[in-house]
Amino acid sequence: MGKHRVGIVGGDGIGPEVIAEGLKVIAATGVEFDTVDYDLGGARYLRDGTVLPDSVLEEWRGLDAIYLGAVGTPGVPPGLIERGLLLKMRFELDLYINQRPFHDPGKGIDFVVIRENTEGTYAGEGGLLRKGTPHEVATQGSVNTRMGVERACRYAFDLARSAGRRKHLTLVHKTNVLNFSGDLWERTFNEVHADYPDVATAYNHVDAACIYFVEDPQRYDVVVTDNLFGDILTDLGGAVTGGIGFAASANLNPTLTAPSMFEPVHGSAPDIAGTAKANPTAAILSGAMLLDFLGETAAADRIRAACEASVTGEITGSTPEIGDAIAARV
Ligand code: NAI
Ligand code: MG
Repeated sequence: MGKHRVGIVGGDGIGPEVIAEGLKVIAATGVEFDTVDYDLGGARYLRDGTVLPDSVLEEWRGLDAIYLGAVGTPGVPPGLIERGLLLKMRFELDLYINQRPFHDPGKGIDFVVIRENTEGTYAGEGGLLRKGTPHEVATQGSVNTRMGVERACRYAFDLARSAGRRKHLTLVHKTNVLNFSGDLWERTFNEVHADYPDVATAYNHVDAACIYFVEDPQRYDVVVTDNLFGDILTDLGGAVTGGIGFAASANLNPTLTAPSMFEPVHGSAPDIAGTAKANPTAAILSGAMLLDFLGETAAADRIRAACEASVTGEITGSTPEIGDAIAARV
């Protein structure tokens, strides 16, 4: 397939440590990358105030994909890197699907959460009035467009019907209380369902879904939900399937008008940075999702198979030892 042009943002803390292992394992598959490194994240911000220049965004538009470790450093004001880099990437590159697979063969768990990634309460609507006074008011609106909800639902239905999945899709929301956004989500979901009569559907309120994620995660195949519910539910999904060291994710622009971004769910873990204690499996599995998206599905399957030994606890050790053991199994 020739060389893929991939932007690498190692980021902060354990980010560069786990991405190095991901690239090692990808190299072991024989797939070749032409990589471009980007020094971005909390450390870069503290050094010279740079977060995400428009010139970098323009360069990224010419790439096939972006592989990111984690960004965030103690000492940077909260929200600055999240909004200025991660959310800006999602909005500017229109990465409207956040896909997070959860897999624990020992427990028979195998489901994928599709989180709408550009709207909801993360869109930035709202503001502060009379800030700092006793009459202060804060609002944070939830933005839900028919187009945004529909493309997320359609992607989830397509995934539920794809090879290897079980043709079952659950909508998670809170339609009993969020009567405006929930109404749009429910109506859109049902209308899109008409185009996928072979896919069976279910609906869970988000609070009930929290119980089922813990007590009966085997019931799920594909789950679709909004930005905030998806953020919270996917941390829970990670916790019930081996922990944060195994949770992979993709931020996708399925229309291919911009490169998609692949990253482990975890953050920069400053508490263990530099100690080689980070589990690189989440980053390696995110690399497999990247390969899938580039059409290198055979290599992606080999990486996922090699990672099973890490998921089951057969492979242990330092960050590079785990990476070496997975690369050797590829
Ligand atoms: P975190 O995920 O970095 O760490 C939470 C806990 O999990 C820590 O005890 C950490 O040691 C452990 N942990 C995380 N990844 C691990 C791995 N691969 N192997 C073993 N243990 C692991 O979340 P936290 O502490 O809330 O955030 C730290 C920084 O990361 C913050 O600056 C935060 O903003 C940033 N962050 C960045 C994300 C991103 O780049 N997408 C996502 C989440 C947090
Ligand atoms: Mg999160």
